[in-house]
Amino acid sequence: MKRLAVLASGRGSNLQAIIEAVRSGALTLEIVGVASDRPEAQALARAEAAGIPAAVFPPRQYENRRAHEAAILRWLQELEVDIVALAGYLRILSPGFIQALGCPILNIHPSLLPAFPGLNAQSQALAYGVKVSGCTVHFVDEGVDSGPIISQEAVPVLPHDTLESLSERILEAEHRLYPKALQLVAEGLERPERRSARG
Ligand code: GAR
Repeated sequence: MKRLAVLASGRGSNLQAIIEAVRSGALTLEIVGVASDRPEAQALARAEAAGIPAAVFPPRQYENRRAHEAAILRWLQELEVDIVALAGYLRILSPGFIQALGCPILNIHPSLLPAFPGLNAQSQALAYGVKVSGCTVHFVDEGVDSGPIISQEAVPVLPHDTLESLSERILEAEHRLYPKALQLVAEGLERPERRSARG
């Protein structure tokens, strides 16, 4: 079975969906570690509750970004991970880190990319006035939210939506989408040379 590590900065609800998909047998891989850049991240408590080793790498404990990433890289290499999933991990990974890691890195983003990349995707969708948004799981490349798409799910934007109501509807879709996309990679889907959504 492939070995997955999850990086998360906050609430960790996507991590929880991944944990539950593994428990139910819908996702056939082993979660070998969860790391966060924030000691207070709820994701760490969720990992511990599930009996998954958790690690914290607060950036200010390192001299610079390079040293911070080097520590995370060492941890991932010691765990012998095959796949890394970013689940609300709010730091941009450097090209050097991505290359040195050399395994697929996935990210989930709360919009239908390439619309609304970067921060506050749900607010961007509301401000733009779209009728449909959603979520995207993609392979991480050197850009911001720019790597090849694996899976997407569309979510309607309703007339009276607030940031909270839209974010909640998108989050429910995220919890369905991320385990499914991870399963495709667990079954051998690789980052393609050419772009084409798979599921
Ligand atoms: C999710 O909505 C995820 O799509 C988003 O952060 C949230 C994390 O929630 N990620 C991004 O915006 C990345 N650009 P969670 O901690 O409950 O999984």
